[in-house]
Amino acid sequence: MSGTGSCTVVVGCQWGDEGKGKIVDVLAEDVDIVARYQGGANAGHTVHVGDEEFILHQIPSGILHPGKRCVLGNGVVLDVQQFFEEYEALSARGVDVEGRIGVSWRAHLLLPYHRLMDQVSETSAAEKIGTTGRGIGPAYEDKTGRRGVRVVDLANPERLHKRVAAAMERVCARLEALGHEDARDELQERLDEALALGERLLGIATDAGSEITAALKSGKRVLLEGAQGTALDVDHGTYPFVTSSSTTAGGAATGTGIGPTVIDSVVGVVKAYTTRVGEGPLPSAFEAKMDERVRELGAEFGATTGRPRRCGWFDSVLTRFAAQVNGLTALAITKLDVLDTLDELRIATHYRMPDGEVVRGFPADTWSLGSVEPVYETLPGWKTSIRDVRRLEDLPAAARAYLDRIEELTEAPVGWVSVGSQREQIIQVG
Ligand code: IMP
Repeated sequence: MSGTGSCTVVVGCQWGDEGKGKIVDVLAEDVDIVARYQGGANAGHTVHVGDEEFILHQIPSGILHPGKRCVLGNGVVLDVQQFFEEYEALSARGVDVEGRIGVSWRAHLLLPYHRLMDQVSETSAAEKIGTTGRGIGPAYEDKTGRRGVRVVDLANPERLHKRVAAAMERVCARLEALGHEDARDELQERLDEALALGERLLGIATDAGSEITAALKSGKRVLLEGAQGTALDVDHGTYPFVTSSSTTAGGAATGTGIGPTVIDSVVGVVKAYTTRVGEGPLPSAFEAKMDERVRELGAEFGATTGRPRRCGWFDSVLTRFAAQVNGLTALAITKLDVLDTLDELRIATHYRMPDGEVVRGFPADTWSLGSVEPVYETLPGWKTSIRDVRRLEDLPAAARAYLDRIEELTEAPVGWVSVGSQREQIIQVG
């Protein structure tokens, strides 16, 4: 890239909910464009500004910084109704949204039948994924099955209606087979409501890849914001207990239409412990009492669904794998303050496999992950509040030792440490 612009990816390195919203919000201060590259309304990025809490599902957290441009890339599956609801809700709270958001012509539409199919499939599935019920899987199925409807199709009503009618036939046949014979009329009504927003969406459509590339060439700074996390990536995660998109840094290029060579840095966000919502293994899970304690301390309930998150010790086997898959240049560690009252802390360094072998790499076999025994290292707690600390050297020695060990085991340098939900509760390292 010949320009002087910079391009940073922010990616989750656990099972989502790492606090990416907060880190993007902090980093957005110094960029011109924030773009989302995958996922949809399954995400719930919580950002605190003063006394106000914002939970963003589809609009990038950069919207909370006046004047920053926000882009939704082709890798996103856009729930158009939910998108405009979020848009209106932000406007009503005084955020100036007008003219600041662009949606890729190539993004796929997530339509009401995707939501219904997601909910019905989950209910009837023998092996549940524990999805957010937002229609994500069915929308990506249509995309890769080459049956999807894209933003650009809204500009051609005849083609749009042909594709949507075909989709409705397929969906209603599936629904009937699953015992939902009477869904058609209501679904058609909701579909018409969604498509009625088409004109409005076309008004903000953009060629995201060209826009971002041109911005970089003219010296602008760009942040590419991931949703979910590495262990939920459709290729690299704990398949099949994953989401349906490429959450990892590689997805930032394919999901926005930029070339991978323009990416300068990749910031991996990890919580100072581990959480997971939905089905699937969590090797470093706490025992019940500790699980409840940390869930309360960290308010670990889903921002999108309100479901309680399972909690566990920091798992460096997973984050080392995430550092490799994403090519991390820095780590941002969030919610360190949640551990303030703990006597001691553990970090999983290896897994003992069901056959007794001790491994350092993250196993591909998701089912064996359910019965591995993590090998832990124990470190002392710091037993004091760190919420007002703003410099690394002011952290208690035990907290610094904990961070140092995470850095060593993950093989990525710590760049930021978040010590509370407010914007200013952040330590920038170096
Ligand atoms: P889906 O993305 O709704 O299909 O859900 C698939 C899996 O990803 C489920 O285990 C969800 O709980 C999980 N998931 C999806 N989005 C998020 C998120 O934003 N945070 C944490 N987990 C998520």
